[in-house]
Amino acid sequence: MNDIKIAPSILAWDLGDLERAVEISVEGGADQVHLDVIDGHFAPNITFGPGTVKALRRRCDLKFDTHLMIDTPLQYVDRFLDAGSDLLTFHAEVLDGPRFDELYRAVKGRGKEVGLAIKPKTELPSWALERLDKISTLVVMTVNPGFSGQSMDMSVMPKLQKIRGIVMDRGLPADIEVDGGVEPENVGEVVKRGGNVLVAGAGVYGKKDPVRAISELRETAERARVKA
Ligand code: DX5
Ligand code: ZN
Repeated sequence: MNDIKIAPSILAWDLGDLERAVEISVEGGADQVHLDVIDGHFAPNITFGPGTVKALRRRCDLKFDTHLMIDTPLQYVDRFLDAGSDLLTFHAEVLDGPRFDELYRAVKGRGKEVGLAIKPKTELPSWALERLDKISTLVVMTVNPGFSGQSMDMSVMPKLQKIRGIVMDRGLPADIEVDGGVEPENVGEVVKRGGNVLVAGAGVYGKKDPVRAISELRETAERARVKA
């Protein structure tokens, strides 16, 4: 299985002080920063856009993992790439094969990575199964999109395990990212079921010592990986 990667979600920090949020990720040794973009249509919240991503890019060299929870990703793909995103994740619920292909061309044409996310109740559609080799990160959401601080929906675990099985059977290099409610208490189970990129909002930024929370989450995940 791929390496464990920790992706703190800055949505859980004080949105007026996002500079500190990315500093914490750097100090804690995170692998990437998870940036939740929500448009108020796809999910019931409005967060930030490409201007914020660009401002943070000037303050941080970590990989930017931009999770687009928006209805019209094609309209914004270039702006998020210009802003400095390294991985752009789109939601399967607003796509089909041809739309995905268009996004894929736009992102790959600029040398960046494409992710595909699914909500807790969404199965990977057949058009996505046919294109798995084009997806660098499959994002399995374990909360409904919108807010940080929700608890993980454990009923997603069999789907996560199934997706890991498909990726392994086909010998694909895709990362499997688990997003929503990841905490030290459940990260072991998530890793055993096949998640290797661990998004954590409250699980990092909600802790007393968020810098330390990053390494603790990593250590717990690594231990579970050895046993898996
Ligand atoms: C939810 C977002 C998640 C969320 C993670 O819409 O996609 O990334 O912020 O935060 P926690 O880990 O607190 O659930
Ligand atoms: Zn997210």
